[in-house]
Amino acid sequence: MDLFRKCFQWKDWKTAQQFGYYPYFTPIESEAGPIVEINGERKIMLGSNNYMGLTNHPEVKQAASDAVLKYGSGCTGSRFLNGTLDIHVELEESLAAWLGKEAALVFSTGFFVNQGVISALVSSDDVIISDRLNHASIVEGSKLAAGETIRYKHNDMEDLERILQKVPDTTGKFIVTDGIFSGEGTVANVRGIVELAKKYGARVMVDEAHSVGVYGSEGRGIADEQGQLDATDLYMATFSKSFGGVGGFVAGPYEVIMWIKHKARPMIFSASLPPASVAGVRKALDLIREGDDRRAKLIANADRMRTGLQEIGFDIGNSASQIIPLQVGEDLKCVKFWRALFKAGVFTNAFIHPATPPNGALIRTSYMPTHTDEMLDEALDLLQRVGKKHKVIR
Ligand SMILES: Cc1ncc(COP(=O)(O)O)c(C=O)c1O
Repeated sequence: MDLFRKCFQWKDWKTAQQFGYYPYFTPIESEAGPIVEINGERKIMLGSNNYMGLTNHPEVKQAASDAVLKYGSGCTGSRFLNGTLDIHVELEESLAAWLGKEAALVFSTGFFVNQGVISALVSSDDVIISDRLNHASIVEGSKLAAGETIRYKHNDMEDLERILQKVPDTTGKFIVTDGIFSGEGTVANVRGIVELAKKYGARVMVDEAHSVGVYGSEGRGIADEQGQLDATDLYMATFSKSFGGVGGFVAGPYEVIMWIKHKARPMIFSASLPPASVAGVRKALDLIREGDDRRAKLIANADRMRTGLQEIGFDIGNSASQIIPLQVGEDLKCVKFWRALFKAGVFTNAFIHPATPPNGALIRTSYMPTHTDEMLDEALDLLQRVGKKHKVIR
C-alpha cells in the first residue's frame, strides 16, 4: 500500500480552491498592521494577534536589526549546547523579575513550551486535568506525557472539582488552562481554579498566550488581573502575539525550571530562538510594561466591536476579550461567508471542523490598538452587509 495514497485521494482543499472559497495560507504583502495588502488590494485586518500593535514598532525593529549586526542571523544549535546567548539569559531574567517568579526559560515557540513543559513534568503516576477547549499545543504536550489526561467542561468549576475528587491523593495533579481561549475569546476562571487546586493539592499552569500584554498591571496577564499571579505555579506565554515576534517562555519556581531546562525535549533537541527575535521581544517587553495607553485603546476597540456586532445581530458566544467569534454553524456556509468578507475588504479567520465541533464553525475576529474608530466602523458596516447576504444575521 502506498503511504501517499491518502494524500493523492484527498480533494477537500482542491474543491475549495476551485470554487474560490479556500480560506487558508493567504499571502500578505505588507506588515501585520490594522490594514494589510493582499493581491494589491486593501483589507481591514481582523485576523491578527498583534494585540499591542508592536510588530512594526521602530524601537522593536531597531533592536532586532542591531542584534543581527552583532550576533548574526542564528545560533546554529540548541540552548542546551551552543545556542545560549547572553541576551537569552538577560531576557529570561527580565521576564522572571517582571512576573515576580524565581526563574523563566525561553523556548523557540510557544507550542514548544506547552509540548515540552507538560511532557517533561507529567510522569506515569501523575494526571493532567485540562479544560476541554485548551489550545492544540496543550493537547499535544498532554499526548506526549506519560500520565493520563482528564478533560473538564469548559471553564466549569463544578466539573473540575468532580474530577479532582476522584483522583487519589497519591497522584500528582497538573491543572492546565488557557488564560483567554484562543477561538472563543472566553476568560478562564483562574481564581476558581487556584482555589480548587489548593483544596486538592494540584499544581496549576496558565497559558497566557492571548492575555499577556493585554490584561493585568503592566500587561502581566489574566492571572494577575484576577489577583492570582503569585498563586499560579507555572506561567506560560508566547511571544507570537502581544510581543509581536516569535518564541515563548515558562516561568515558575527555580528547581522546576531547572528540571524543564534539562528534560524538555524541544529545549534540548531544537535550535534556540535567533538573536533578532530575542532582542525584538526584549524591547517589546519594555513597551508592554509601559503600554497602558495601548491596552486601554485595545479594550475600548474590543468593547466597541462586541457591542456593535451584537447590535447588528451576530452571535458572539461568551466572548469577553479582544477575541470575538461570529458563530456561523455549518462549515461550507462559514468558508463562503469568509470569502465574501474577504472580497468585500475584511480579513478574518475561518475556524471549521475539526478545529470546532461539527456545525460549530465560526469566523474569528480579533483586534489591535492600532485600529482606528473609522476602520472599525467600516468593518462593522461590511460585516453587516455581508452577514445579511449570507444569512448569518437577519
Ligand atoms: C493558547 C495558545 N497557546 C500556545 C500557542 C502557541 O504559540 P506559538 O505561536 O508561539 O507557537 C498559541 C498559538 O496559537 C495559543 O493560541
